[in-house]
Amino acid sequence: MGAQQTLRASVHPVMRDTIHTMNTPLPKPVIRPRRLRRNPAIRRIVRETRLHRAHLIQPMFIVPGLGVQRPVVSMPGIEQHSIDQALREAERIRNLDLGGIILFGIPESKDPLGSDAYDEQGIVQRAAREIKKEIPDLYVIADVCLCEFTDHAHCGQLKGHDVDNDATLELLGRTATSLADAGVDMVAPSGMMDGMVAAIRSALDRADHSAIPILSYAVKYASAYYGPFRDAADNTPSFGDRRAYQMDPANRREALREATLDVEEGADMLMVKPALAYLDIVRDLKERFDLPIAAYNVSGEYAMIKAAAENGWIDEERLVMESLISMRRAGADMILTYHAEYMAERL
Ligand code: PBG
Ligand code: ZN
Repeated sequence: MGAQQTLRASVHPVMRDTIHTMNTPLPKPVIRPRRLRRNPAIRRIVRETRLHRAHLIQPMFIVPGLGVQRPVVSMPGIEQHSIDQALREAERIRNLDLGGIILFGIPESKDPLGSDAYDEQGIVQRAAREIKKEIPDLYVIADVCLCEFTDHAHCGQLKGHDVDNDATLELLGRTATSLADAGVDMVAPSGMMDGMVAAIRSALDRADHSAIPILSYAVKYASAYYGPFRDAADNTPSFGDRRAYQMDPANRREALREATLDVEEGADMLMVKPALAYLDIVRDLKERFDLPIAAYNVSGEYAMIKAAAENGWIDEERLVMESLISMRRAGADMILTYHAEYMAERL
């Protein structure tokens, strides 16, 4: 009898298994997920989500003047461009083979009705016309909202201190039509007005622009992550905030309701904004709807990464990649991001 058997025989049967495991080697795992992580070659083969330049849209801010390239302080690496400079920037973006650009404009002068937004000679219309003339193969999306153009910086025409939803619809229809006339490839209404997609669809169709798709900011939350954008686009409301039209960050079911309405109104793509804090919503929309889904990786998300990187606290390239791949994994087909150019150089 060996020592171990002597011990086993001397203890109560209930205890025997315990002693057994104490004295024999642990069973070896047969199934080992690590086999498929051993080196870059196999990791590349089994990777489930990919990020391609074509998925990325670079936002651009157009300002009046000539030769203007003004850094946005809260968004290191991002500049406001006058139209001549925007052309050079657009050419760089085309050469990087990104998915495209989305244009925001800061007009020479603002008024209560945001009339530059739907002026044939408006800042975005002129920029779009020039860009499409010089670089026709660059895909150009135009943001459709009034807040950069109104002197009060709310997203529509006011009635007292409230945005007059239905009066605003008419202006949004005119804005989208004039942008399509200027040659943009897609319009992206971001003002969270009820019925905005239907109003824009019908205005475009009446103006012979039935081929122009609508990317709806269907689910746009009233978010503190938009802080730096207000510097870039000069659209801080002169009173109050946007919580009476943008969504409450606490709400998930309401996002489905908003998206359903936009699909019924004829949206071609649905966007969720911001991105990282709302990946559950991106996933919800991806599962419920058959339209392509976009995520807007907004200014505050960008600024946080830049600030931490400038302090040497994080690895910028890895963090940007991880953030963008998470948006793709959640279900975003397209990502609007200020990191687009940076990332294109590294993909
Ligand atoms: C305006 C608009 C905003 C953004 C895009 N379009 C700001 C806002 O609603 O206050 C935010 C973009 C960003 O933060 O990067 N309708
Ligand atoms: Zn707006």
